[in-house]
Amino acid sequence: MTTVAIAHPNVALVKYWGKRSGTDNLPATPSLSLTLGGLTTRTSVTLEAGGDGAAVSINGASARDAKIEACVARLRARAVERRGRLVVASTNDFPTAAGLASSASGFAALVTAIDAELALGLDFAARADEARRGSASAARSLVGGIVAFEGSDDARTWQPRQILDERAWPLDVVVAVCAEDPKATSSSEAMIRTRGSSPYYDRWLTCAERDYAEASACIAARDFAGLADVAEANCLSMHAAMLAARPAIVYWNGATLECVRRVRELRAQGVAAFFTIDAGPQVKAVCLPDARARVRAALGEVPGVQRVIESALGAGACIETRA
Ligand code: PMV
Repeated sequence: MTTVAIAHPNVALVKYWGKRSGTDNLPATPSLSLTLGGLTTRTSVTLEAGGDGAAVSINGASARDAKIEACVARLRARAVERRGRLVVASTNDFPTAAGLASSASGFAALVTAIDAELALGLDFAARADEARRGSASAARSLVGGIVAFEGSDDARTWQPRQILDERAWPLDVVVAVCAEDPKATSSSEAMIRTRGSSPYYDRWLTCAERDYAEASACIAARDFAGLADVAEANCLSMHAAMLAARPAIVYWNGATLECVRRVRELRAQGVAAFFTIDAGPQVKAVCLPDARARVRAALGEVPGVQRVIESALGAGACIETRA
């Protein structure tokens, strides 16, 4: 049998940046995200009779990644009676490991597909736990629409929660791809460095809690302008903490900064759009649907922008086929 699962990456409006010490990949702060229906990871998993172990490929190339191997091993250990070789093939229809959250959609699709292929029967909490251990933001990709992720030092409290489904408040995201290459510093490594050396890390933690409360209230009130203010401030606070780390973590390039300037200019002209940037150079402009064409045109003409991807909000991870 082969199971195919799909999942979409997500973009955080209030970011997770930093882990709780002494925990298994628990975020230091709560986060809020949008699930991006226009970008897709598709992962097929086949349990082949005979043989043992697992083979994983990403975009057609064999992948050796400690986090993926650990995730596969943990899930296999839950299915002792199902012997065979697990063949995993994952493809992304967007740049991989380049600040577009391919690890979020990747782990969400992986856990969803293996759970079904091995008939593990995991409940949502267990799938969220497995996805989070792979990549904390991956737990959010199990859920569609606008998603909150918060908890305490107790791992069981970290359950992604849908605040609004993908139809409740239609928002679009225009992604300006400012470089296609994989990033030089992984987000895990960059988080450790920020926490260990940035003089602003402690302030970032305080800001993140405050921003989470403020953004949640804006979403409840469908207050786009309020959400724009807090999301941009949160993004820049996170990058400010990274910029002050030693050595500094600079994910941006020239096109990134020019896209930020263009979105700010559009906002000043009354266009309902704001920017956010994750661990990479790509700029994501969140906008109301009627502003999408204008935002797309503006970002598409920025020198250095390789391409522009458009997305509406999408659903959480699910099984596409099982045959
Ligand atoms: O889950 P990770 O390890 O890919 O880290 C995600 C970090 C950011 O994308 C920058 C922020 C976030 O909340 O998604």
